[in-house]
Amino acid sequence: MFDLNLDNIDTGLQAPESEPHRQYHYMAKCRKLVAKLAAVKGRKLKYHVETFGCQMNFKDSEKLEGVLEAIGFEAEESEKADIVIYNTCTVRENANTKVYGRIGYLGKLKKQNPDMLIALCGCMMQEAVAVEKIKNSYRFVDLIFGTHNIYKLAELLWKVYGNRLSDNRAEHRHRMVIDIWKDTDRIVEELPSVLKYKFKAGVNIMFGCNNFCTYCIVPYVRGRERSRKYADILKEIRDMVSNGIVEVMLLGQNVNSYGKGLEDPISFAELLKQADSIDGIKRIRFMTSHPKDLSDELIDVMAHSRHICRHIHLPVQSGSDRILKAMNRHYTAADYMKLIGKLRDAMPDIAITTDIIVGFPTETEEDFSDTLKLCEEVGFDSAFTFIYSKRTGTPAAAMEEQVPDDVVKERFDRLLEVIQRSSEKRASSLAGKTVEVLVEELDREPNDGHSCMLTGRLENNLLVHFKGCPDMIGKLLNVKLDECRGFYFLGSIEE
Ligand code: 5AD
Ligand code: SF4
Repeated sequence: MFDLNLDNIDTGLQAPESEPHRQYHYMAKCRKLVAKLAAVKGRKLKYHVETFGCQMNFKDSEKLEGVLEAIGFEAEESEKADIVIYNTCTVRENANTKVYGRIGYLGKLKKQNPDMLIALCGCMMQEAVAVEKIKNSYRFVDLIFGTHNIYKLAELLWKVYGNRLSDNRAEHRHRMVIDIWKDTDRIVEELPSVLKYKFKAGVNIMFGCNNFCTYCIVPYVRGRERSRKYADILKEIRDMVSNGIVEVMLLGQNVNSYGKGLEDPISFAELLKQADSIDGIKRIRFMTSHPKDLSDELIDVMAHSRHICRHIHLPVQSGSDRILKAMNRHYTAADYMKLIGKLRDAMPDIAITTDIIVGFPTETEEDFSDTLKLCEEVGFDSAFTFIYSKRTGTPAAAMEEQVPDDVVKERFDRLLEVIQRSSEKRASSLAGKTVEVLVEELDREPNDGHSCMLTGRLENNLLVHFKGCPDMIGKLLNVKLDECRGFYFLGSIEE
C-alpha cells in the first residue's frame, strides 16, 4: 500500500500561511493521496472516530469527520477502519483508564492490519504525562494532537502519510507525529464538518474556561476562554436552519461569560435573543451555565423568548458554603437558591438540572448534608452526580484530607436516592399532558407494516416513546404523555 510516489501528488506549491486556506491546501493534497490509496485497495478508505466525554468533544469530532470526508474517507461503524481517531476526555481519572484499555485493543487490530493509522486527540492529549505514557508504551500510535489544533487534521495527516511514504524502511515506519499546543487564542472558521443529525446540531460559541474550579482540569487542557464573533455564530445557525436543522445547542464551558475579550462584544443574553429571532429556528438550548454569571438579563430573555427551551443546566457542585469556597465557585448555597427562585418566578415550568460532586477533599458529613438539603429544596429535574476524582495539577489534588472511598460511596448512594425521588416527582407531574416533542430516533422497525416505535425529546430534555412512522423523524409533534416510567414516558400522538 505504501509504495506510492509522493512526488506525483506533492505539486511543490507552497502551503499558504493563512487559515483556513492552508487546511484546504492540505485537504486537496490528502484527497489525491487517499484516491490513489483507494485505487490500490480497490475500495474506498474508511474512518472511525470514537468520541469520549462531553458535547464539546462531540462537536470537535464532527469537525474531524468533516475533514476526513472532504479528503475521501467514508464512515465505518467498527474500529476495523483504515484510520481510527480517539477523541479523548480527561475530566475524571477513569476516563483516562478507559482510553488506555481501548488503545491496547487498537494495537491488536493494527497487528492484523499494519496499514491502519491510529490517531489520538482531545483533552487527555493535552496532559504531558499521558503523552509520555503513549510514547513509551503504545508506540504503534501514528499521530497525537490536542484540543487547540484539531482544525489542522489535514496538515497532520499529510505529515503522517509523508513519513510513511517517503521512508519505507521498517525501522522508520512508526515515526509518531506529535503536535500539541499549550495554548492559543486562535479560532479557525469555515472548515467542513459532518453533522451527526439532520435536524439538531451543536454550535460552539466559545472555547476554554477561565474559572479554575479547584477540582477541574478543563482550564489546563482547553486553555483560556475565547469567544467566537457573534456574526459568525449567527451565520452558522442561519446556514444550519436553511439546511433543515430545527434545534441548536449553543456550546461553551461557561456560556454566561460569552463575549468577554471580543472587539465588538455582546452579552450571552443578547446572542440568545438574536438567535431566537432567526427565521425557521424551532428550539434553542445552551450549556453550560455557571451560577456566578447567570444574569437577570438572561432570565428575562429566556422568559420572553419564543424558541429557547424552558430548561437550564446549572451545576451547583455542592450545597456547603465551605466546600463551594474551597472549590473556588464564587457563590453560596443561598445565592444558588436565590437564582432558582428568580428562574421559577419568571418561568414556573422551567426544568432545572445540575452537576454535583461527592467527596471533594475535606467534605464532612455536615457539608454533605448541606448538599442533600439543597437538593431537597430545589427538587432537580435530574442531576449528573460524580464521585470526586483527583486530577494531577489541580489545586484540589494537593489538598490533604481526601475523603475515604467507602465514605464517598455511601454518600453517593444517598445522594442518588434524593435525586431519583425529585426526578420522578418532577416527571410524573407531566403525565397525562400533551407536549411538543422533537422526534429524534427510530426505536423499533415497523412490524405490522404501518407503525413503528419512535423516540422524541421534550423541551425539558426527557424522552418519550410512542408509535409513529419513520418520516416523522426531525419533526416537532404534539404527543400525549400517557404514562411516566420514572425517567421517560410512554405516549401517543395527538390526532
Ligand atoms: N471529579 C469529579 N467530577 C468532576 N467534574 C469536573 N471535574 C471533576 C473531578 N475532578 C464534574 C463537574 C462538572 C462536570 C462536567 O464534571 O461536576 O460540572
Ligand atoms: Fe471546570 Fe469550573 Fe470551568 Fe466548569 S467552570 S469547566 S467545572 S473550571
